[in-house]
Amino acid sequence: MKIGITGVAGFIGSNLAKQLLEDGHEVVGIDNFSFGNKQNISQIENNPSFKFFERDARDASSFTDLNADTWVHLASQKIPRYSTSYHTLEDNYTMTGNLIAKCLKDDVKLVFASTSDVYGKNTVLPFHEESNLVMGPTNVKRWAYAVSKMYSEHKIIAYADEFGLKYSIMRFFGSYGPNQNTTWWGGPQAVFIQNILEGKTLEIHGDGMQTRTFTFVKDTVQGIMQCIFHPNSLNQVFNIANEPTEEITIKELALLIWELIKGNRNNPDIKLIPYETFGKYEDVMRRVPDITKIKNQLGFSPSWKMREGLRETIAWQTQLFESKK
Ligand SMILES: NC(=O)c1ccc[n+]([C@@H]2O[C@H](COP(=O)([O-])OP(=O)(O)OC[C@H]3O[C@@H](n4cnc5c(N)ncnc54)[C@H](O)[C@@H]3O)[C@@H](O)[C@H]2O)c1
Repeated sequence: MKIGITGVAGFIGSNLAKQLLEDGHEVVGIDNFSFGNKQNISQIENNPSFKFFERDARDASSFTDLNADTWVHLASQKIPRYSTSYHTLEDNYTMTGNLIAKCLKDDVKLVFASTSDVYGKNTVLPFHEESNLVMGPTNVKRWAYAVSKMYSEHKIIAYADEFGLKYSIMRFFGSYGPNQNTTWWGGPQAVFIQNILEGKTLEIHGDGMQTRTFTFVKDTVQGIMQCIFHPNSLNQVFNIANEPTEEITIKELALLIWELIKGNRNNPDIKLIPYETFGKYEDVMRRVPDITKIKNQLGFSPSWKMREGLRETIAWQTQLFESKK
């Protein structure tokens, strides 16, 4: 099959493209390099089954001459403080609209990257696909991201009802691994590893007791592949995450990364940064997925424990760090 990917030079996009090519598929990908980079696709750029175009997914004409059997829409503005709420809302809205129009016109499936952030402040755990989506106030910028993804989900489902759009919606829970962005855009693993490599203090937001359930990117890619190819994925929403038993506090994550790099947990250089420092900010205190649906319907089976995933990630990020010296 030929799979189209927006955001192919980003973290998840580049890992997905690599797997698809290894499995014998063709990939056509676009990226505007706003957050991705050429290095992420350097391993695959000469593969004759891979076609890359430096284009902007906000521009509908970027897709006119491209064809794929399914489009995986990953390009996105993620954290409002890295751009603005305006761009988070408008760019994500515009891109989703363009992808819906493209997929309807070509009568192909749209596989859309949503986020666990849509569960927001819901305290009823674990989060399953029918759980309530509980947002904070509109003057807290962080929610602009979740709202943009919620709106996209609603829009995709409405277009399916009204016009027969074929889709799968994927709610990723914190993915990490090789090719991740090495700032907060890439997540806490990226930042903590980078801090230790650079000899800087690890800064934890809040008291570090907030939890997440992280997914190694190879498991995330497994879930995406099932949403592309499995017939039971049609017009469904799925959590793509690790087992709920993998829930970990951010403080423990920092200590584990310290231990894996330094060989022990002696005198970790960790500082707690109060949430107030970020202005009007709200964090999600626990995020635990229910992955029963994707396991039962698509045969998903995450296999990467945090230690093993972190070892691969640290090895990749260390090599990148050394190569830039
Ligand atoms: N990484 C995670 O843990 C995670 C969690 C939840 C949801 N998601 C979602 O998964 C998707 C992929 O995330 P990621 O971590 O790989 O992000 P990423 O930033 O590494 O990759 C996204 C890519 O999209 C590109 N892009 C952005 N705007 C574009 C535009 N207008 N035109 C063309 N390309 C554009 C960026 O340059 C980047 O390469 C996103 O939609 C994100 O919201 C990711």
